Amino acid sequence: MTKLIALLPGDGIGQEIVPQGRKVLEVVASRLGLELEFEEGLIGGAAIDAAGTPLPEATLDLCRRSTAILLGAVGGPKWDNLPVHLRPEAGALLPLRKQLGLYANLRPAFLFAPLAKASPLKPELIEGLDLLAVRELTGGLYFGEKKTFRREDGQETAIDTLVYTEGEIERIVRLAFELARKRRRKVTSVDKANVLESSRLWRRVAERVAQDYPDVTLEHMYVDNCAMQLVRWPKQFDVIVTENMFGDILTDQASVLAGSIGMLPSASLGGEVALYEPSHGSAPDIAGQDKANPLATILSVALMLKFSLDCEEGAKAIEQAVAEVLAEGYRTADLWEEGAKLVGCRAMGDLVAEKVAAILG
Ligand code: NAD
Ligand code: IPM
Ligand code: MN
Repeated sequence: MTKLIALLPGDGIGQEIVPQGRKVLEVVASRLGLELEFEEGLIGGAAIDAAGTPLPEATLDLCRRSTAILLGAVGGPKWDNLPVHLRPEAGALLPLRKQLGLYANLRPAFLFAPLAKASPLKPELIEGLDLLAVRELTGGLYFGEKKTFRREDGQETAIDTLVYTEGEIERIVRLAFELARKRRRKVTSVDKANVLESSRLWRRVAERVAQDYPDVTLEHMYVDNCAMQLVRWPKQFDVIVTENMFGDILTDQASVLAGSIGMLPSASLGGEVALYEPSHGSAPDIAGQDKANPLATILSVALMLKFSLDCEEGAKAIEQAVAEVLAEGYRTADLWEEGAKLVGCRAMGDLVAEKVAAILG
């Protein structure tokens, strides 16, 4: 049966990287006999410009009809001063995640061996790095009650609320344990339980869930320490599970362990349809110049094959293709090092697509 894939390029480099992901997916599909159909939807600033709203009904409808969604990125300076509900981030990306029920955001930080020198960290600290961040995606600070008001003393005041229910914590922590079982059996639950009430609840729930997984080690770590440990000795981590905003911040940091933010893919799961997107943004500073690294998007396609299309073989082929292209010395500008062969976004996409074709025969 033909499966529908929604493509939401969005803004900035989203327009350049999503076509590379599609190209690679089409090669996998043709070689492995997957019947896929693609339909493009508007989101973010592109949707504001074309349709006056950042998340048109037609886009939500397309997502709901699809087997999986590939998203580029949203946002950019052009739309930064709009009222908040019209902005690409708060008006489109966050409601899309919420409305589709995508509470679990998986961000694997994996070092491809040829990139050991691309990171600012010493190679011996990151060689063999393979950690998985499991970020809660539909709760916490992002979705709690918010308001701006003038206090009695005349001060303009703003409030963001960090709310979690035990059910919200339990489902994400449980997923982290399930994933750890297929890896090195260690979960680091990251919180700020020395200060935050929500973190103390998080810790209690994590302890309770851990009882169902006696074969997996649970450790708790404060988020400030985690930020430090990530650069001090990142290989101590297997699965990190954490609150929405902590996860946002820590994964940008973790991306550098993998060489560049352009290497960090993501899968957002938990609803009927899953969403795949690179962890980075629309990179306005390099947009439209064919400079973006498409590998985070291409590796997100590998996650799509694994989690939504039941095609482990295709996912493996993509990962192997990326490894081989990097081993041959090809680099986008974010990964450039002495002696490398500099390529643009489209050329990198072509190289990976050709490799995938060769691998799958
Ligand atoms: P960003 O991730 O877009 O860029 C940060 C830096 O990393 C920039 O120097 C950029 O050039 C570089 N970079 C990012 N992706 C890259 C890639 N694939 N290849 C090479 N270099 C890359 O973060 P920002 O500058 O803070 O945000 C820009 C816009 O993107 C904002 O509007 C923000 O809200 C939005 N944003 C969207 C998402 C999303 O849609 N999921 C994620 C993060 C930020
Ligand atoms: C991400 C982004 C988003 C987030 C923004 C654009 C709302 O930074 O996907 O990591 O904070 O979740
Ligand atoms: Mn982010």
